[in-house]
Amino acid sequence: MSYNKLTDKLVAAFAGIVGRENCLSDNDSKTIYGQDETEDLLFFPELILRPSTTQQVSEIMRLANSHTIPVTPRGGGTGLSGGALPVHGGIILSMEKFKRIIEIDEKNFQAVVEPGVFTQVFQEECEKRGLYYPPDPSSRGSSHLGGNLAECAGGPRAVKYGVTKDYVLGVEAVLPTGEIINAGGRVLKNVSGYNLTQLIVGSEGTLAIITKIIFRLIPLPRAKKVLLVAFNSLKDAVAAVASIFQRGITPSALEFMERAAVRAAEMQLGKTFPNGNAEAQLLVEVDGNYEETLVKDIEVIAAVVEQHHALDVLLAEDRQKIEDVWALRRSMGEAVKKISTYKEEDTVVPRAALPQLIRGVKEICGKFGITSICYGHAGDGNVHVNILKDKMDDAAWEQHLDTAIREIFHLTVSLGGTISGEHGIGYSQKSYLPIALSDAELNLMKAVKRTFDPNNILNPGKIFED
Ligand code: LAC
Ligand code: ZN
Repeated sequence: MSYNKLTDKLVAAFAGIVGRENCLSDNDSKTIYGQDETEDLLFFPELILRPSTTQQVSEIMRLANSHTIPVTPRGGGTGLSGGALPVHGGIILSMEKFKRIIEIDEKNFQAVVEPGVFTQVFQEECEKRGLYYPPDPSSRGSSHLGGNLAECAGGPRAVKYGVTKDYVLGVEAVLPTGEIINAGGRVLKNVSGYNLTQLIVGSEGTLAIITKIIFRLIPLPRAKKVLLVAFNSLKDAVAAVASIFQRGITPSALEFMERAAVRAAEMQLGKTFPNGNAEAQLLVEVDGNYEETLVKDIEVIAAVVEQHHALDVLLAEDRQKIEDVWALRRSMGEAVKKISTYKEEDTVVPRAALPQLIRGVKEICGKFGITSICYGHAGDGNVHVNILKDKMDDAAWEQHLDTAIREIFHLTVSLGGTISGEHGIGYSQKSYLPIALSDAELNLMKAVKRTFDPNNILNPGKIFED
């Protein structure tokens, strides 16, 4: 696919749509908007546009489509698969001005919001009203809801409450051709035609630009407690995970962290985890409305982890302690990234297969002399495998990285899992997608993409190999 470059005349036309002040092309802006949180990747856009209305987005897309200019939509820039990188240059369409929480409908437990709202800001507004929006990626302080929809973000609470898609009832979106659609609506049930809403959710900004979101909400649980459980082997820690569920408990979070991940987080925040020296830890959170039920759940969990040779079980009950533990956990991604050049994988398997996944990852990395640090949402079977260059020389890293990742993904798929649970395929994982999907499945997806975007101008270079 060949794209056209922006001419001065076109830049003037785009500036006319959004206003000069929202049309950026200086080098600093290009550097900021040319990267996200994915490794150290950087691609310069030619122009950055910051529209503030659906109509403006529509006009931008019409113009870009008629001149075959690539457009890459962007939320908070916290993505981990390069979904917001302008790999073919062209325009970055930043949705940062779509900042309104339009309505929180307390009677119907619904909300209507714009995509540029920070995830945490929206959660806190819901919580003030006794309502709960559970999907909370670790980056919730800086991620945008629109980006969360694009990637179908998960995060720690998905294990009990589901991922972003489970809360989206409808979207207003602009198609690559500029048409505006309203998919879904303010109803909990809807079988009127194909589910376009859910096709757009998780489509990584390749099918449409989301300009408004209708969410469903749930009541906010009144109480929570957190357990930190230390183990002296990775195997014991991950084997305990499925057993907890088998005893009839669904924790509101069940996170796994190996020692190196805990260490990195401690360094990053200058705080310490209890039992920081343990080989592995589980962070188990339970929530609900009644303290008595939570106390009973915790007794059961403590008994289960003891059977799995837990070294220590610590209970965090007061708000501050719980928040401290979560702050350490949430800082892990950034902290691990700082250690060395790295590549992050987002493996997910049925949760009872976790012990095989972790053992396999360690064996594969060991074979190539590669350092790996694993942590993540064990309750979902979703482990972030961070592969670090560390002291490896450049030639060995170049030679082995791709092979090691392929082996890890083949293992993941053979265990009944897939190659990304919540970070998406984007730019950085697209060469691996055929490990998880058949030709028939890939072709169907490509046909969907062509239907939405006949000129392939919206977020090109993502999900599929060019
Ligand atoms: C986390 C991000 C990396 O779980 O998904 O911290
Ligand atoms: Zn995660």
